[in-house]
Amino acid sequence: MKFIKANSYDELSRLAADIIAEQVKNKPDSILGLATGSSPLGTYANLIKDYEEGKLDFSSVTTVNLDEYVGLTGDNDQSYRYFMNTNLFSKINVPMDKTNVPNGCAEDLEKEGKRYDELIDSLGGIDIQLLGIGLDGHIGFNEPEDVFTGPTHAVTLDQSTIDANARFFESIDDVPRKAITMGMKAIMQAKKVLLIANGANKKEILEKSLYGPITPFVPASILQLHPDVTVIYSEN
Ligand code: GLP
Repeated sequence: MKFIKANSYDELSRLAADIIAEQVKNKPDSILGLATGSSPLGTYANLIKDYEEGKLDFSSVTTVNLDEYVGLTGDNDQSYRYFMNTNLFSKINVPMDKTNVPNGCAEDLEKEGKRYDELIDSLGGIDIQLLGIGLDGHIGFNEPEDVFTGPTHAVTLDQSTIDANARFFESIDDVPRKAITMGMKAIMQAKKVLLIANGANKKEILEKSLYGPITPFVPASILQLHPDVTVIYSEN
């Protein structure tokens, strides 16, 4: 595992964007695993800048996002599909039909999970997976539980996740209680993993995840078993 301590969120964002940019330059038809949350916003802003300056071309890229709230359609401004469209996809030249987010409105979520995993398999897996980390150690929406779950699956969100994500909603009651998330299989099979975390409040869970026991009660701890993980952390 490569651990990089950045001096600021701006530096973290530039470093993370450089790693993704390098991936796209080396393999223009890369499969990018993408994430939502506030952590990747700076990374996306840098990728947009690179694209605008003519340094990056996303026309052959395919993206697969980690997760989506159950019950929110893509035009709902709280959905992760909306987040990705607004903060990245509409501002670069990735073809929209090559951007993938699990469908949180699928009637049969188990079937949707299967479809999503088959899609990832048919693409040959993920080249680089960008991850944030939740305060409870979740990656995607893989919450602490007594087993690591492999397939893309529906989850009930932990109260701490609902509390943390309430800042994006008008009221905490509006935060969906369920989500669908890529499971550990697709994440662990990604050729590279890039985990970004910022803020002093992430320090403890990051240390637990990277240096503590590997346990599904700290979902991100599974990354200790991945052969190519880069972690970028900034305390500010
Ligand atoms: C959400 C997302 C995760 C994300 C996490 C941390 O719940 N499902 O993918 O990593 O929160 O978010 P933030 O970067 O805003 O701290």
